[in-house]
Amino acid sequence: MSANLKYLSLGILVFQTTSLVLTMRYSRTLKEEGPRYLSSTAVVVAELLKIMACILLVYKDSKCSLRALNRVLHDEILNKPMETLKLAIPSGIYTLQNNLLYVALSNLDAATYQVTYQLKILTTALFSVSMLSKKLGVYQWLSLVILMTGVAFVQWPSDSQLDSKELSAGSQFVGLMAVLTACFSSGFAGVYFEKILKETKQSVWIRNIQLGFFGSIFGLMGVYIYDGELVSKNGFFQGYNRLTWIVVVLQALGGLVIAAVIKYADNILKGFATSLSIILSTLISYFWLQDFVPTSPYCSMKDWVGQVQWLLPVILTL
Ligand code: C5P
Repeated sequence: MSANLKYLSLGILVFQTTSLVLTMRYSRTLKEEGPRYLSSTAVVVAELLKIMACILLVYKDSKCSLRALNRVLHDEILNKPMETLKLAIPSGIYTLQNNLLYVALSNLDAATYQVTYQLKILTTALFSVSMLSKKLGVYQWLSLVILMTGVAFVQWPSDSQLDSKELSAGSQFVGLMAVLTACFSSGFAGVYFEKILKETKQSVWIRNIQLGFFGSIFGLMGVYIYDGELVSKNGFFQGYNRLTWIVVVLQALGGLVIAAVIKYADNILKGFATSLSIILSTLISYFWLQDFVPTSPYCSMKDWVGQVQWLLPVILTL
């Protein structure tokens, strides 16, 4: 049963990661009339959706009794302020990270973003070893080194990139910095959440409600700081369309699936599962969005090696 849940949650995660990165990128680059949606508000809406979904799951676990649900929420959240407060740390970090990823995807193509973001497997492994005393085998360390080599390969500027200024080096740099910072925050927050989940007995959904509670507060602060003026002028939901709602729902779904994966598997496996989605988003990005177009035979070689380098670490680790 638990093994089934492990593979089911990992499978859903691959699907969710692939669709999120493509719709997010598509929604940020689509040329439209009127104002574009504010990513800071999308982060808040996703947190609120996640809380609602988790409350429904706790309600189901309480045998669909409103009274039991009320009691659980009181006993586990309101009456344990110190336990609840522990989640403020990963929540603050995730909020920053969720905003950084929008910056990254507004400045990098979907494929480069995906591959570079896989460095989070390395940071996660380092945090797992130091904070959870996990032991990694030789093959696992080797796969991490291969991963890093692949990422460096993708980031190395090619002749065609040096020639063409229209790729905007400045914006690539901003995107790269955003994604590298997100790698560190992802590793730390994921392992911290795993530690809390596995060392205390509260349910994963309760923990997610606590996480979402702080996430919404931090997110609203972000809206006020970055987009306060725009919101007061054009409203919180300016520029929202059907695609925006799909992004927001996928992001909320991601929070639920990731929590399940951390519970039934662990953060390192989660990292390798999401890296499987690289090849999917690369193929779709190439064939469907025409977003990732190799410009010379050399560049094409380099890009494709970069895209498939994930295979080796995955094979070595499983
Ligand atoms: O890239 P990474 O795996 O670190 O992304 C984790 C994502 O999952 C973040 O967007 C974070 O907000 C979300 N998350 C969540 N609930 C959890 C754990 C992570 O919403 N319990």
